[in-house]
Amino acid sequence: MNSLKVRQITRLARNFGTTTKNNFKVAVVGASGGIGQPLSLLLKRHELVSKLSIYDVMRTPGVFTDLSHIDTKASIEGFQCAENLPAALDEAQVVLLVGGVARQPGMKRDDLFNKNASVVEEVTTVVAAKCPKALFAIVTNPVNSCVPLAAEILKKKNVFDPKRLFGVTTLDLVRSRTFISEILKVAPSKVLMPVIGGHSGITIVPVLSQCKPPLKLDKEKTKKLVERIQHAGTEVVKAKDLDGGGSATLSMAHSAAVFTDALLKGLKGDCPPVKCSYVASDVTECAFFSTALKLGKNGVEKNLGLPKLNEDEEKLFCAAVEQLKKDIQKGVDYFKKKNKDDKKGKKC
Ligand code: LMR
Repeated sequence: MNSLKVRQITRLARNFGTTTKNNFKVAVVGASGGIGQPLSLLLKRHELVSKLSIYDVMRTPGVFTDLSHIDTKASIEGFQCAENLPAALDEAQVVLLVGGVARQPGMKRDDLFNKNASVVEEVTTVVAAKCPKALFAIVTNPVNSCVPLAAEILKKKNVFDPKRLFGVTTLDLVRSRTFISEILKVAPSKVLMPVIGGHSGITIVPVLSQCKPPLKLDKEKTKKLVERIQHAGTEVVKAKDLDGGGSATLSMAHSAAVFTDALLKGLKGDCPPVKCSYVASDVTECAFFSTALKLGKNGVEKNLGLPKLNEDEEKLFCAAVEQLKKDIQKGVDYFKKKNKDDKKGKKC
């Protein structure tokens, strides 16, 4: 009898010890925009989200009320105006930044930096103050420069944890799988491959030689496919020009939700999901680089490093590294300049 009791107690204790958490607060910043709305919808339906906090500078009440009628588990909070951003992010475990302006035809992602840097600055400052342990994922473009800028701000506030800051590059993989599945005539879910580097033009390096199932294309077709993947965002921008303008919103929301799902599963302690994301890294000469990551309870558990590259991919990789160095420097320089200006403005 006694031994049974002990066994029961032990089992109970073990269960407590391994109990996984299913309830996470996720905040979407920029929730009323083209990406923010579908992303918020997808997260409202996510089984691991118990509280969804949505924030935007305008149109939040409508989006909030609309989402609040959906009969899923996540409770919803809505916030508008900069003064309420701290409340929106308070104790969030995952923060997704999707706000800022989108590309128009003829623009590169990099052209958005001067407009979107101030959004990144404002939101990162509040992340540092209200939820420094949150996993912070940036979708706002140009990701290649916005993530280094956010890192500088977090460093200045003494809360930078390289395991918790992410640039979302999932859409590059989502597109690659879709295009390849059409060529191979298999389900997109069957296509596995890494897409490394950054999230813009030549910094996007799809490693087609590692594709499973194998993709056997001649050099010319491979080149065309790589270029399509690298410039797929522009394909959407051009198509949307006929229809009011803007860039990818639905496929980006889907991709951000796929990435958030992996972050949440990692936080929960599920079998660690592997995803490529643009993070602080020492895998290459670039201070930030996207490679496959094992995710866990504290964000990045392990950087799986560079995949094997063939000769042509080596060339793509080198071009990506050169461009990325400049993109990263742009984020860092903005921070330095801003800091200098702030000091100048300070009066004793
Ligand atoms: C995309 O890849 O579609 C997004 O980064 C938006 C853009 O400007 O291309």
